[in-house]
Amino acid sequence: MPPSTSQKILFSGMQPTGELHIGNYLGALKNWVALQHEYECFFTIVDYHAMTIEYDPKDMPERVKNLILTYLSTGLDPEKCHIFIQSHIPEHTELAWIFNTITPLGELERMTQFKDKSDQHRNNINAGLLTYPVLMAADILLYKTIGVPVGEDQTQHVELSRIVARKFNKLFGKTFPEPKVMLTPTPRIMSLAEPEKKMSKSRGEKHYIGLFEDPDTIRKKIMSAVTDSSAGAKKMPAGVENLFTILTACGAETSLVANLMEHYNEKTLQYKDLKSAVADTVIAMVEPIQTKRKNLEQNPGYVTEVIMNGTETARAIAQQTIKEVKQKCGLL
Ligand code: AMP
Ligand code: TRP
Repeated sequence: MPPSTSQKILFSGMQPTGELHIGNYLGALKNWVALQHEYECFFTIVDYHAMTIEYDPKDMPERVKNLILTYLSTGLDPEKCHIFIQSHIPEHTELAWIFNTITPLGELERMTQFKDKSDQHRNNINAGLLTYPVLMAADILLYKTIGVPVGEDQTQHVELSRIVARKFNKLFGKTFPEPKVMLTPTPRIMSLAEPEKKMSKSRGEKHYIGLFEDPDTIRKKIMSAVTDSSAGAKKMPAGVENLFTILTACGAETSLVANLMEHYNEKTLQYKDLKSAVADTVIAMVEPIQTKRKNLEQNPGYVTEVIMNGTETARAIAQQTIKEVKQKCGLL
């Protein structure tokens, strides 16, 4: 599909770090699927970003392919959006270098994700971990993006891309729009085991529900979710609130949610009933995604074709922008 520059452009991406969880889906991917019908969308697999954490090169091709299959099985349609791999388009790193020269170091040092990841990976605090949001700004601005659909934890990075756009425009002349973050109604799904923290795979098995986990595992994980908090008393416990959030976001009937909520308010709710309803709803939501994925796996040629087409379209725009940028910077 050729690009139509008249349309408003959205851009987002995910790292190929393994199987996605329902937080990734409800916080970002599900939104992409809806937005592809309204905007010209570019969705990428950010393999360069994934290199900032220690990894085995042997696994990378499989991880990338897995994420493409996940994108397609959740409903991204290559007829409606452009899907490509970040490292296939060298203009991303070219622009990132230029942005490195105008990004204040202090802005990068205060990024919460940088602080968290530096704590988690003390033996590998590489420069890429610090400049990660600069590459992300390059990803976004290369396409003159106006909106970035992501989960809440990426808001600070999108904000940085606005700072970079503003600074570039001021120094070299108006070039980039300032992109806005686009959140879903559930921008932060919480962990099942520690509901005060966001759902994340790195915390361990019992904390998340994988999009491709089998129904029995999903049910077991939900049935053992933490519901009571020691804080107790008046406020709804974080774990219960999270289960209600997941229930609604996964498409449960409003009458079912209302009924469970009524029981909660009357203090007659059995948490096992709430959990059982959540398990049924999550399983019903992932079932068609899992089936679609099995079908797609039968046709590896299709994945290659999708990426080839997506790359071609994205590269044409990337080359145009980098030319303009280099001219403005006095490099051409
Ligand atoms: P990650 O691979 O964890 O960096 O996340 C990929 C996308 O999913 C990003 O847009 C994140 O903001 C989003 N995301 C990650 N974890 C959650 C969560 N627990 N709730 C909602 N969105 C999330
Ligand atoms: N940092 C994002 C994450 O970890 C991934 C990402 C890289 C991204 N480049 C992007 C997201 C550009 C949106 C736009 O989830």
